[in-house]
Amino acid sequence: MVDELHEVRSRAKDRLKGICTVNKVCDGASTRFCQGQKFGEPLGLGGVGKGLAFTANIEALNAIKLKTRLVTEHTEPDLEHVYFGHSVSLPIMPTSLSGVKASMGGPISELEFATRILKGAEQAGTIGWVGNTADDGQETNGIEAVKKTGGGIPIFKPQSNERLLELIKMAQEAGAIAVGVDLDGCGSTNWERAGKPVYRKSTKELNELADSTDLPFIAKGIMSIEDAMACVDAGVQGIDVSNHGGRVLDSTRGVAEVLPDIAVAVGGKVIITAGGGVRTGFDVLKLLALGAEGVLVGRPIVRAAIGGGADGVQAQFDYMRSELRRAMLMTSCKSVDDAGPQVLDR
Ligand SMILES: Cc1cc2nc3c(=O)[nH]c(=O)nc-3n(C[C@H](O)[C@H](O)[C@H](O)COP(=O)(O)O)c2cc1C
Repeated sequence: MVDELHEVRSRAKDRLKGICTVNKVCDGASTRFCQGQKFGEPLGLGGVGKGLAFTANIEALNAIKLKTRLVTEHTEPDLEHVYFGHSVSLPIMPTSLSGVKASMGGPISELEFATRILKGAEQAGTIGWVGNTADDGQETNGIEAVKKTGGGIPIFKPQSNERLLELIKMAQEAGAIAVGVDLDGCGSTNWERAGKPVYRKSTKELNELADSTDLPFIAKGIMSIEDAMACVDAGVQGIDVSNHGGRVLDSTRGVAEVLPDIAVAVGGKVIITAGGGVRTGFDVLKLLALGAEGVLVGRPIVRAAIGGGADGVQAQFDYMRSELRRAMLMTSCKSVDDAGPQVLDR
């Protein structure tokens, strides 16, 4: 597994030349190749503006410390969990990603990229999410990948409700296990560059989308209590606390900073996932302890999919699984549900 991951990362470095230097820690530091103002050029793997929201995710996670608890009765950590009626072997999922041409230099097709991620997630025993590219003729490739692989969660950009209702129906027919909209996609630079309109959504519009399908509906890109509660009112089944990896609105707080208050406000009424700056299984335990039920990973999955296909994605998850197990073992955390404030040192 370890040799494989090294190989995957070294191939990713080759294939993402001019986009990502595949550093040992993907930390969004201002000196990193991907960061810095783009003046209208595509973002690559960096953040928007000065890259502060990307960095804030990493800093927020780094500021949280885990508490060692070793003098307790030994139990093997249970990493299994159930999301929307589907069992997974670990509480980590690939987040919705797209824009291979615009953001990754275009080494493979959008369909191939989405397929690699969904297959890799399945091989690792988890559920893949898939994004919505602005590229002409490829906007429904996420749905095609779901059909090809027999599962997954497509997340659509906030286009007109009329178009979203069509896409949700197509996703349901393709075998998706849940669907959603990245509400913060209204700030997508790729969709703006492509001249394709994306919008904020009212509670009423969200309710129309959630009510249109039997599938669980997820609102992605929630960073405030106000939006979280509006989503609950709209009848969604899941919210993803995330800031698009700092790629839409610069100068937000980090995900790990806003998550605890949102989790308290929501009070278990919907499933909460969270993602942004997650690089290790140790980071995963932190977000679980702060109130997420599932944790999403972005940039490391881009590198894994481009450098190693489905097997690369699996290798990335297997590595994070071993880290999460170690983190749970050493904090006396028995299961995903057991991950709470007691594992944090504050
Ligand atoms: C290259 C790239 C493409 C992305 N494309 C999408 C997308 O199509 N839909 C979406 O909801 N989010 C998209 N995101 C945001 C991610 O889903 C996620 O919120 C973010 O990457 C998490 O931060 P991390 O990359 O630091 O783990 C994208 C992010 C990156 C880096």
